[in-house]
Order: sequence, then structure tokens, then C-alpha cells
Amino acid sequence: MQLDGKTAIVTGGASGIGRAIATAYVEAGADVVIANRTESSGTAVADELDCTFVRTDVREYDQVEALVEATVDEYGALDVMVNNAGVASETTVEEMSLDEWENVLRTDLDGVMHGTKAALPSLKETDGCIVNVASIYGLVGGKGAASYSAAKGGVVNFTQQVAVDYATAGVRVNSICPGFVETPMTEDLLETDRFYSFVRDETPMDRPAQPEEIAPLAVFLASDGASYLTGANIPVDGGWTAH
Ligand code: NAI
Repeated sequence: MQLDGKTAIVTGGASGIGRAIATAYVEAGADVVIANRTESSGTAVADELDCTFVRTDVREYDQVEALVEATVDEYGALDVMVNNAGVASETTVEEMSLDEWENVLRTDLDGVMHGTKAALPSLKETDGCIVNVASIYGLVGGKGAASYSAAKGGVVNFTQQVAVDYATAGVRVNSICPGFVETPMTEDLLETDRFYSFVRDETPMDRPAQPEEIAPLAVFLASDGASYLTGANIPVDGGWTAH
């Protein structure tokens, strides 16, 4: 699967799953723009991967619009928008503060909408595609993750909705729904025996994933091999949602 000649934006590309996707895209021949809110890690990863970094907070629509503009200015077009940036939450609805709800929804759901809205005019010109990074917690209720599940559930249905509206415009829209993946987001949680055991108990494959096990699907979804695939929310979860 090759992505030669394609230009991709990966939000949250400086770390974890986004970084693995950016790396796989570069290896597949794409030009990649990493968008992150933190300058230092974004620049370091972009230097390492030989790609471009644009400082972006996905919660702010004008910054995401500027990101797409900068990408098209530099590379001439945009073929793939990966809406991956996200934050976690570990609270029930009663424990959760209203500020937490707002921040998680603004990052994990509004961020995906911002990337979609800003990228669509360019993607219509290239018959491009959108790859959202949702979660198994968008497909089933996530224990102790009220705001996160609400946001990811929104991403899952938004993926289908936008796919339906833009199918005849030539833009495909899909999401990847990972199970637990060892990244900076989950590092602290997975270090506790109780949480690690919970993940193993819920995962038929008996282990969390590595980010490199999520990235190949993102390459496939962006490739010409996925030409008839749209509106799909695909679990990559070691079997979590199969039972
Ligand atoms: P991570 O914490 O390693 O990476 C997230 C990246 O998003 C970081 O680079 C962070 O700086 C960036 N980011 C956060 N808020 C941002 C904002 N407002 N604007 C721009 N960038 C921002 O986390 P990980 O695990 O790689 O997560 C990536 C995506 O995968 C997220 O959407 C997450 O919800 C999803 N996911 C992760 C799972 C896991 O177990 N690690 C499981 C299922 C989904």
C-alpha cells in the first residue's frame, strides 16, 4: 500500500498513535504535516520524520483552518485528514467536573468537526479522505469515562453522517476505534496492576496494543485500496468489542 504523491495532516502527530500514523505515512511515501498544540515535541518529531510541523490547537477552529491553508500552500493539495488529537478522561458523570466535560468534548469531538469542516473543501478537490481516531469507547460505554465516551460516540456517528453527505463528492470518511494502546495517554493507568488486569480481562488477546498495531489500518484507509470503504467505524481492539 503506497501513499506516494499524497499529502496528509495528522493532528496529535507528535505522540503515541498519531506519531505511529505519521511515521507509517512517511514510510508509505506521503508528505506529512504534524499538527500539535505543543511546539517542542511537534518540532522534534517533525525533524525526526522529515516532515512539517504546524502548531495547532484543535479546539480552535481558526487554527485548524490556518493549518489546512498552510498545508495546501506548502504542498499544493490535501489528500488525507487524520483527526487523531485527543485527551482522556477517567471520571464517572458524578465525579466529573463541568470543566472536564467541556475540555474533553472540545478536544475530542469539536476537534474532529473542526478538522473535517476545514479540510472538506480541499478534500473535494483531490477525492481525498478523512480518517478519524475514535475509540472502542465510542462503540460501547467506557467504564469510568463519561465525557470521553460521549465525545467518541459523537465521533463514531459523525463519521457515518459526514460519509453519507460526501460520498458522491468523492470524499471517504472512516474511523479507527482502538482498544487500549500503550501511549503517553495511558502510561500511568496501565502502570497500575488493577487497571492493567482490567484491560487484560476485557481483551480476548489478553494485552494492550502498541501504536504500531493501529497505524497500518490508517495507511490502508488512506490508500486507493480502500476506494469503496466509507462510513465505517473499525475496531482494532484485540477482540474487546467482540464479546
Ligand atoms: P497521546 O496523549 O500519546 O497523544 C495525543 C496527542 O494529541 C498528543 O500529541 C497531544 O499533544 C495532542 N493533543 C491533545 N490535545 C490537543 C489539542 N487541543 N490540539 C492539538 N493537539 C492536541 O494519546 P494517544 O493514545 O496517542 O491518543 C491518540 C488518539 O487515540 C486520541 O484521540 C485518543 O482518544 C485515541 N485513543 C487512544 C487509545 C489508547 O488506549 N491510547 C484508545 C482508543 C483511542
